[in-house]
Amino acid sequence: MESSRNPPRAVLFDAYGTLFDVYSVAQLAEELFPGQGQALSVLWRDKQIEYTRLVTTSNHGAHYQPFSVLTRAALVYAIKKLVVGTGETLTQDAFLLEHEPAIEMLLAQYQHLDAFPENLAVLQQIKAQGIPAGILSNGDAAMLHAAVHSAGFDGLLDHVISVDPIRKFKTHPEAYALGEQATGLAARDILFVSCNAWDALGATWYGYTTLWVNRYHLPFEELGAQPARTSGDLRAVPEFFF
Ligand code: LAC
Repeated sequence: MESSRNPPRAVLFDAYGTLFDVYSVAQLAEELFPGQGQALSVLWRDKQIEYTRLVTTSNHGAHYQPFSVLTRAALVYAIKKLVVGTGETLTQDAFLLEHEPAIEMLLAQYQHLDAFPENLAVLQQIKAQGIPAGILSNGDAAMLHAAVHSAGFDGLLDHVISVDPIRKFKTHPEAYALGEQATGLAARDILFVSCNAWDALGATWYGYTTLWVNRYHLPFEELGAQPARTSGDLRAVPEFFF
């Protein structure tokens, strides 16, 4: 493959799940809802991603809402399903009266997600190698900037690209096109890094050179295309540029 002969000329990272650990909220969730923290953080994430697809593919985007809004909606859904339960009927007002403080605490925590341990050193190394680096994320700008700052990544990223201005979430091709527009490079000359298999697949289909970071020892998507490489963590990124 041409992309394996020529090193990429820039690197773009997915944010949530790749740079920032979305499951790091499980501990607070467990304190707030004992016995349900792990399940809640998983359902919250799954529902959040489902909502991005729902609003991108329905009625030509008429129901688009920013990632921060979908993130809140997904959390409310997860609490209703796992904590309130289906047997109980609560009005929305009664639900919020009881659970609003927990919702606000979890959303505040989402602004300060833990970064995976090796990420800071990898970003510093990429910077030292002079490789343009950025984020290409479904997150909206305010969320991304808060997360970048909180993780200590200030000054290490040349681009923080949100899909919000085009009102379409990954895996829509217009979302992936933003990476080419920001860097001025063709997708095959950009390394796209994601821990989310669906995102690594979407980016591969789009034409990026891809690294799937398989932190959780999962199978890749069963839809044919494969990422250029797979690794266990982000330390595989600098190797692409030698
Ligand atoms: C992102 C989510 C999808 O950062 O992980 O784009």
